[in-house]
Amino acid sequence: MDDLKSLEADLMGRIDAAADERALEDIRVAALGKKGTISERMKTLGKMTPDERKEAGPILNSLRDRVATAISAQKAILEHAAMEARLAAEAVDVTLPVASLPRGRIHPVSQVFAEVEAIFAEMGFSTREGPDIEDDFHNFTALNFPVGHPAREMHDTFFFDEKDDGSRMVLRTHTSPVQIRTMMNEKPPIRIIAPGRTFRCDSDQTHTPMFHQVEGLVIDRDTHMGHLKGTLEAFVKAFFEIDELTTRFRPHFFPFTEPSAEMDVGYERDGGTIKIGTGEKWMEILGCGMVHPNVIRNCGLDPDEYQGFAFGMGIDRLAMLKYGIPDLRDFFAADSRWLQHYGF
Ligand code: DAH
Repeated sequence: MDDLKSLEADLMGRIDAAADERALEDIRVAALGKKGTISERMKTLGKMTPDERKEAGPILNSLRDRVATAISAQKAILEHAAMEARLAAEAVDVTLPVASLPRGRIHPVSQVFAEVEAIFAEMGFSTREGPDIEDDFHNFTALNFPVGHPAREMHDTFFFDEKDDGSRMVLRTHTSPVQIRTMMNEKPPIRIIAPGRTFRCDSDQTHTPMFHQVEGLVIDRDTHMGHLKGTLEAFVKAFFEIDELTTRFRPHFFPFTEPSAEMDVGYERDGGTIKIGTGEKWMEILGCGMVHPNVIRNCGLDPDEYQGFAFGMGIDRLAMLKYGIPDLRDFFAADSRWLQHYGF
C-alpha cells in the first residue's frame, strides 16, 4: 500500500510540474500506457486470490482514475496557456502613430448634413435618399410642372442625350423628386427629410453647378401650415443655437406647393459677421408650402384624405451662414488649406 501512496505522490508531483503537453503525454504513457507503472499493477490483479482482488481492485482503479483526472486537468491548463502564448505571439498592432500624419477633417457640408439630420431626427423625421440622375417624371411632371411650363426653364437643367423614345434623363435640379418617390412607396403618415446633391447650370460667388439641398416632407390627415411654421422655426433655432428668432413667411410660387412661401429670418451684422435671430434685416433661407393636391394625386394618394407640408433649403448656404464662410466656390475647390481651416 505504501508503495502505491508514494507512486501516486510521485506521479502527481510530475503531472503538476509538466511544462508542456509533450512532457505530460510522456507521464501518461509511463503511468497509464500499456507498460505503464499503474497498468503493470493492474495486471497483477489477475494473479491474486478473489479476496485479495476484492481489496486491491478498487484501490488500483481509483488510483488510475485520480491520475487520469489529474492528467486531463493539467492538459486543459497547458492547452490554454499554449493558446494564450500563440495569440500573444501572433498579435498584430494595427494602430499607426497619428502624430506624424496629416489629420483629416470633416467638410463643412458633411458637418451641416449631420447637424440637420440630428435636429430633424429628434422631431421624428427619418432620412430618405433618391438618385442624382432622375427622369422627367420625378424631377418635374409629378411635381406639377406642366410640360412646356416656364418653371422648367428656371431650373437651368443639365439634360442627358435623348433616348430612343425621345425622353431625356436629367441631373436632378432639386431634392423634391424624393417627395414623389417617398409618397409613391410609403403609406402616410410620412415624416421625412431627404438630403443630397443637386445640379444646375449656374456658377458665380453664390452658385455652383453642383450644390446641396435638404428636402422635408410631412403628409398626414390634419397637418396644416401651423405645423410647417412650428417645425421650421424649431429647426432654425436649433441649427443656429439661438433662443430668439423672428421669422416672416413671404408668399411665393412653387408648382408643387399651394400656398407657397419663402421663409425669411431676422438678422443683424455684428462687425463682419452675420448674426441670425433678430434684427432689422431679413434673410431668405428656404422655400416651403402646403403640398399641392395635384402632387398628392400624382403619387396615388387621395388629396381629400391626405395633406401636408414640404420645404427645401440649400445646405451650402446654411454652412456659409453658420460658420462664416465667404465664398461658395471654395467648398468644392479641394484645397487642403481651406479644409484645414474650415473643417471639423
Ligand atoms: N425645390 C425647390 C427649389 O429647389 C425648393 C423647395 C421649395 C422645396 C418649396 C420644397 C418646397 O419642398 O415646398 O428651389
